[in-house]
Amino acid sequence: MLDKVLIVDDDPGIRSTISELIEDLGYRAETASDGLDAVDLLDSGPYLCVFTDIMMPNMTGLELIQKIKARDISLPIIVITGYASLEIAIDAMKCGASDFIAKPFKVKQIELMLNKVKREKSLLEENKRFSDTLQLHRLIDNLVGQLEDKNEEITSLQALSDKIISLKGIRDLVAAIIDVSKQLLDDADVRFFPISRSNKTLVDPQGGTEIQLNPELLKGRIVRKNNHGSALANSFETIFPLTIEGQVFGALDIISGTMLGEDKEGKVQYLLNRCAERMENVALYEGLYENMLSTLNSMAKILDARDPHTSQHSTRVTTLSMAMGKALGLNEDERDVLYISSSLHDIGKVGIPDRILLKPQGLTDEEFAVIKKHPDIGADILKPIPPMAKETEIIRHHHERYDGKGYPSGLKGEEIPYLSRILALADSFDAMTSDRPYRDGMSVGKALEEIQRCMGLQFDPALAEIFISQVARMQ
Ligand SMILES: [Fe+2]
Repeated sequence: MLDKVLIVDDDPGIRSTISELIEDLGYRAETASDGLDAVDLLDSGPYLCVFTDIMMPNMTGLELIQKIKARDISLPIIVITGYASLEIAIDAMKCGASDFIAKPFKVKQIELMLNKVKREKSLLEENKRFSDTLQLHRLIDNLVGQLEDKNEEITSLQALSDKIISLKGIRDLVAAIIDVSKQLLDDADVRFFPISRSNKTLVDPQGGTEIQLNPELLKGRIVRKNNHGSALANSFETIFPLTIEGQVFGALDIISGTMLGEDKEGKVQYLLNRCAERMENVALYEGLYENMLSTLNSMAKILDARDPHTSQHSTRVTTLSMAMGKALGLNEDERDVLYISSSLHDIGKVGIPDRILLKPQGLTDEEFAVIKKHPDIGADILKPIPPMAKETEIIRHHHERYDGKGYPSGLKGEEIPYLSRILALADSFDAMTSDRPYRDGMSVGKALEEIQRCMGLQFDPALAEIFISQVARMQ
């Protein structure tokens, strides 16, 4: 049965254009001319997602989003908007819309969006399945049956399997499968070879040499070799394909003194399957994360395009922050967080009206109060994205001051997140040295003097000192 998509718009032209596009992509489109109609139709669900306009008679799009979310929080809603009404789109996303699409529509855009919705849906279902430990136990029980009285081994197999499904990165998973196979097979020599897509060979991750791929592996079958008489004399080699969604992704190569036998092969295969399922899940999740990042990055680009005087500001701030991250010896995770936070630190300015954001000078107190909301707006935009929890807090506090006189929370000294204190230095330095329509930028020397003067007031003194020597070195 085709997935159903609901389109809500008071303009019959737009309703039929989107319906046609969506039906061409292989979905069933249903339409409603206002929110009341849409709510009635929801009873005939389930729908894959809803596209809705914002300005409509009887019920606004924002009210409709709230009504839908109250019924089914997981139903994705995509807002149809003009470029001019980006602020409304952001409001809609805060109400729970998952994405927005600007007029005029491109087929490709709608297709990507629907693909994303479908991926997210299957991810939700996958997660449910994985969190269902009963299911895992059932699988293990089956295995117990097959392997009869080997209870002890099953327990350790379960522990190994648990270890695999708790891992989050593909690299960790590969390391784990090698590790657990070694544990399982005593002192066998175990390696993992990723497959090279282009020429169908296996690539040795250590030496970079390539190994010809046995066609049996591509069919998902285990390959067994007796290495007698070869360089690996008196050994047996068993190669297991690692298959994800029917595609061979790599191979686990095990060289052992004796043949593995059905029992051990079964166990390795079982663990490898768990590993593959987990990889699939991680890949889906990373895909979603990338998707969210690219949406946020395009918002940042829209922001740069609105204000030509600050365009490239985020890029320069990111370069400076990353130089600091390196000088401070931050680990890879912290550097990733700093990178994303710096790139998106002013994302909240999408919520500031043009007449204030673009005003060349002389902001009134009221207008300045509006500008000061941007760290909170930025944090609110990122808040619904769980993997961005750290970035959310760093962006929220990038205008705090060391002496507690900053905004939005008036945090003081070490209460301010460490990475926010680094970001504040890079942000202020770039603001001081950039030209504005009403003034020329300061020289680097002068800006560094200013940072020196504000140590302990605006800036963390220890970090400011490192920042100054770092910038001096970059000159
Ligand atoms: Fe800012």
